Amino acid sequence: MTADIIDGKIFSARVREKAGKQVAMLQADHGLTPGLAVVLVGDDPTSRVYVRNKGIATTEAGMKSEEIRLETTATEAEVMEVVHRLNADPTIHGILVQLPLPEQVDEMAVLDAIDPLKDVDGFHVINTGRQAVGLPAMVPCTPLGCLIVLKETLGDLSGLEAVVVGRSNIVGKPMASLLLAQNCTVTIAHSRTRDLAGVCRRADILVAAVGRPEMIRGDWIKPGATVIDVGINRIPKEDGKTRLVGDVCFPEAMDVAGAITPVPGGVGLMTVACLLANTITAACRQAGIAEPEV
Ligand code: GUN
Repeated sequence: MTADIIDGKIFSARVREKAGKQVAMLQADHGLTPGLAVVLVGDDPTSRVYVRNKGIATTEAGMKSEEIRLETTATEAEVMEVVHRLNADPTIHGILVQLPLPEQVDEMAVLDAIDPLKDVDGFHVINTGRQAVGLPAMVPCTPLGCLIVLKETLGDLSGLEAVVVGRSNIVGKPMASLLLAQNCTVTIAHSRTRDLAGVCRRADILVAAVGRPEMIRGDWIKPGATVIDVGINRIPKEDGKTRLVGDVCFPEAMDVAGAITPVPGGVGLMTVACLLANTITAACRQAGIAEPEV
C-alpha cells in the first residue's frame, strides 16, 4: 500500500482564501477590519520566522497586523504592559504572544492576562475549559488545523480510534479534546506510555506531536490509518546542512498508512491559516456579529 499524501498547501490555501473573502465582507457590510497583534519577546530564530509568516498572512487576508517586539531581557511587567494595552485597543481583536517566553517571564501568567475574547491561540484557561465542556471557545490553531484536515479527508470521525502521541497544552491535550468532541475514542499517549508501539497500532487516526524526529516507525501504524504529523524537527544531514523531518518516519509510514501529512508541507501550514480564521471569529464575537464557519 502507498499512502495518499495530504497536501497542507491545498487545505491551508482554502482556509486562507475563505478568510480573505470573510474579511472583505466584514469590511463591506459592517465596516469592521479584524486586527491581530503578535508579541515576540527575544530573538529566537524559529519564533522570528513564525511571527513574520503570521504577519504576512494577516496582511494578505486584508486584516490589520501589528507586531510588537521586546528584548530578550524584557521583564514580566513589560510584557504584561503590552498585553494590557492590546486588551484595551478596540482595533485589535486577536492577541498572540509567541511562545516560548524567556525564563524570567511566567508564561502562564502572561497567557492568563490576555482577554479570553482576544485569545486567538486558545491557550487561556477560560477557553481551554469552555472547549472541554462544549461551549463556544477559541480553539488552538494547530489542533484546529489538524481537525479540519481530518474531517475533509475522512468525513465523519464518529467511533474512530484516535491516538494522540504527546500531551502538550499547545497540541496534544486540545487535539484529544477536539477528537473526543467528534465522538472518537481517544487515547493520549506519551513518553511514559507502556507499549507505545502497540497503542499506536490501534489507531485509525494517529496524531504525532512529541517533538522527537522520526520516532514513530512504519510498524507502529495500523494499515490504512490516517497519520497527522505535527512534529517539525531539524536534523543534520551528511553534507553538514540540515533538513526538516516530522515525528513520523515518513518513508516507512508511506508503505503502511492510508493517508499521511508530510513535513514540511503538511499541517504546519494550517496553523497560520487557522490563526486568521480565529481572528475573524474573535472580531465577530467582539462586535456581536454572527460568526462565519471556518
Ligand atoms: N510556539 C509554537 N507554537 C505556537 C503557537 O501555536 N502559538 C504561540 N503563541 N506560540 C507558539
